[in-house]
Amino acid sequence: MNSTGSNNAAEAFQRLHGVAPTGVWSAPGRVNLIGEHTDYNDGFVLPFAIPQRTWVAAAPREDGVLTLASGSATAPPLRLADLEPGSPRDWTAYPAGVAWVLRQQGITGGADLVITGDVPHGSGLSSSHSLEVATALALLGLAEREASTSDVAKWVQQAENDFVGAPTGLLDQTASLCCTEAHVLFLDVRTGRQEQVPFDAARHGLEVLVIDTRVSHSLVESGYAERRAGCEEAARLRNVPAVRDLDTEAGLPERLQPLVRHVVTENARVLKTVELLRQDRYEEIGPLLSASHASLRDDYRVSCAELDVAAQAAEDAGALGARMIGGGFGGSAIALVPARIRADVERCVAEAFARHGFAAPRMFTAVPAAGAGRDR
Ligand code: GLA
Repeated sequence: MNSTGSNNAAEAFQRLHGVAPTGVWSAPGRVNLIGEHTDYNDGFVLPFAIPQRTWVAAAPREDGVLTLASGSATAPPLRLADLEPGSPRDWTAYPAGVAWVLRQQGITGGADLVITGDVPHGSGLSSSHSLEVATALALLGLAEREASTSDVAKWVQQAENDFVGAPTGLLDQTASLCCTEAHVLFLDVRTGRQEQVPFDAARHGLEVLVIDTRVSHSLVESGYAERRAGCEEAARLRNVPAVRDLDTEAGLPERLQPLVRHVVTENARVLKTVELLRQDRYEEIGPLLSASHASLRDDYRVSCAELDVAAQAAEDAGALGARMIGGGFGGSAIALVPARIRADVERCVAEAFARHGFAAPRMFTAVPAAGAGRDR
């Protein structure tokens, strides 16, 4: 655990409220190695937690009020009983949505929450889910309520879907809750089956370079819901519970075929990646990452110019493979890069961005970190 982050959160709480918090909980952002737009199709994903986290320092209240402070922003107090989907609409919707869901689970007391963190916002690294997961653990912890990670993941999804209004799947919160250091999490979303697969790129002279395009995306407004609805329609037309159950797009209306083709091929790429990792054949993962990007760009159509330039420039500079991650329409890409040329790859990506007149991207190497929990 990063004790500086949790100390900072505790100190911020002390400064604001004049007393120490009862506890500090934290949750990481995530990178998804492969398996994009498969989660809400009952498919496979392969994320790992990044070292950047959100911390929530918290103390209970008795009056059914939730107070939220983050950095210099202190939000107006919210009465839990008055919370309704769609309001508030700013960053406080995420913790408020979680409190709204947990109130339905009998957690009604209220709380003071002070939030700190270093997961970049709007960068496709799941900053909002890390905030929601840390909030959920804090509210459950204050109420001394035990809950399984699968219940917490479902409650967080309910907050996202029903309160915030983003029809997202289970990838991000499960990654934040269940990932462990030095592993990728192989999750079968349909069955909930999880396997921690060792992931040590450094031992193979490789690094996962994250390229944050700094193009902000909103899954509430983007074409995310439309893609999801298309997949659900395809499953209905073929009489199966989810696209997970299809092995071809053939026979479907033309407009749905590329969506289904992406999901079918992406699930296969996840399985292949897991097999390669188990066999220590890390270098062979590169082409799968690039194929995933092409499929998201051409079939699923959720990429954008900045993500395409990032992936292409990284490959041109010698990355073994590169792809956009997360919902798309902005956010981040990852590249699997030989460590000895990482600086060259970064330079080439930065130059390509400058050539295209894009704002400078933010880049860092990500190593699998610990999942969410109580820090103190
Ligand atoms: C976002 C959503 C996830 C998942 C990804 C795409 O991150 O929150 O549920 O659908 O997009 O793989």
